[in-house]
Amino acid sequence: MTLDDRFVATLRAITGPSGVVDDPELTHRYRHDWTGRFGTDAPVVVARPATAGDVAAIITQCAQHGVAVVPQGGNTGLVGGSVPLDGELVLSTDRLTGIDALDGTTGLLTARAGTPLAVVQQAAARVGWRYGVDIASRDSATIGGTVATNAGGLHVLRYGATRAQLTGAAFVDGTGARHELSGATLRDNTGYDLAGLLCGSEGTLGIVTDVRVRLVADLPYRTAALLRFDEPRAAAVAVERLRGALASVESAEFFFADGLELVCATFSYPAPFAETAGGYVLVEVADSDDRTVALGTAVDGLPGVSDVAVADDPTGRARLWRYRERHTEAIATVGIPHKLDVALPPGSLAEFVDRVPGVIDAVDPDARVWLFGHGGEASVHVNVTGPDAADDATDDAVLDLVVAMGGSISAEHGIGRAKRGRLDLVRAPADRALRQRLRAAFDPHGIMNPGVLTGSS
Ligand code: FAD
Ligand code: MLT
Ligand code: ZN
Repeated sequence: MTLDDRFVATLRAITGPSGVVDDPELTHRYRHDWTGRFGTDAPVVVARPATAGDVAAIITQCAQHGVAVVPQGGNTGLVGGSVPLDGELVLSTDRLTGIDALDGTTGLLTARAGTPLAVVQQAAARVGWRYGVDIASRDSATIGGTVATNAGGLHVLRYGATRAQLTGAAFVDGTGARHELSGATLRDNTGYDLAGLLCGSEGTLGIVTDVRVRLVADLPYRTAALLRFDEPRAAAVAVERLRGALASVESAEFFFADGLELVCATFSYPAPFAETAGGYVLVEVADSDDRTVALGTAVDGLPGVSDVAVADDPTGRARLWRYRERHTEAIATVGIPHKLDVALPPGSLAEFVDRVPGVIDAVDPDARVWLFGHGGEASVHVNVTGPDAADDATDDAVLDLVVAMGGSISAEHGIGRAKRGRLDLVRAPADRALRQRLRAAFDPHGIMNPGVLTGSS
């Protein structure tokens, strides 16, 4: 599909001249995803509305002319859902920015969809609160994008994913109709939760224009500990135990020696311990009192710990966190990664970590496997480098293992284009059909990100 000049002129009339971009040099960053695995060199038109009213006018035109739309926030998504691979119009929220309401008494914050997550976090901190979601892409990912993907991240263990923070949202559905901001109260049980439905909808139900979230209490005492285990398996067992061992636990993450070595080599960091081997757990506790002693007691109860580094000041904690947070960027320097964000039933992380390298090796002996993630909830990022971007054989092998073990094929990044052909693994036909009917109710013309999520399978 190519957009004709008349349609583009209509878009320009809505947004003003700077609100539409079609120069190939300028559209490059909207056409290619963060991983480099999904993208196009075909001509693309990007609409950059500055108001929710302009979003509605653009979607109304798209609905009338049957023009498909890919919503795009910070374009940090990792499943190929934010880029136009079939000539769709990109609707970028990069001009829909700003905090519209922030109340330090009630702890409610309202932001426009294109506001970066870090700006939301900083605004919350200015009034003595925190925002419960944190992800390493915080400077670029938008609050609207985090709603559309139901982003998880580093604090899900304590606060839940994005859906748990949302009290309301404003959005434009696939006909161009505007739905106003809801969520002025902390509790609302008046029937269907439309804002909740937008979470994880990946741009298929409409464009999120405004987001209202509940903030969480700022906890002044924080301690992080990096634990090393000689045996990789022991780290996987230990990280799962932390969820029940500490009420103040905010993060329980894990990675392995090969990932740590890569991070240190890529960013010239010193190794955290004299020996780099085995598995690692990064745990952080936070409370209104110092919980370092409780953390020490919990760590003492974990079998197999061979080294510990502790930090309770912001600089020291950041020094420990960089070994975990920078895995994504480090792996991207090795090659285009195949990224799988899976979850296992609680208690099965160690078995999965044992089995998955062999499963990948059987399909592609030259592939390299990188494992890390949110181990406290048995959520693993299986990254594979080596296979061609279009070769799904290792992806399929990993997902088959996950399903055989009773897990989920997406713990946090969503389905996008990367996994749309695999939904039948985890959804019964009646379930898929119901979801299609739901999608059609929001988007009767089938124009909202048609290439993602339900797909064709
Ligand atoms: P985009 O990438 O632009 O879009 C993602 C999806 O949302 C697309 O389907 C798009 O169509 C849709 N969309 C975007 N904005 C809107 C809108 N306003 N209305 C409707 N649909 C919209 N994710 C996690 O969950 N946890 C992590 O820990 C995490 N860490 C990351 C670390 C790095 C270094 C990177 C690069 C990514 C990470 N991600 C993580 C993935 C990504 O940052 C999240 O999925 C994020 O929520 C995407 O936000 P975005 O604004 O970039 O959305
Ligand atoms: C993370 O937890 O670091 C992210 O979800 C990013 C990734 O999967 O690479
Ligand atoms: Zn993650």
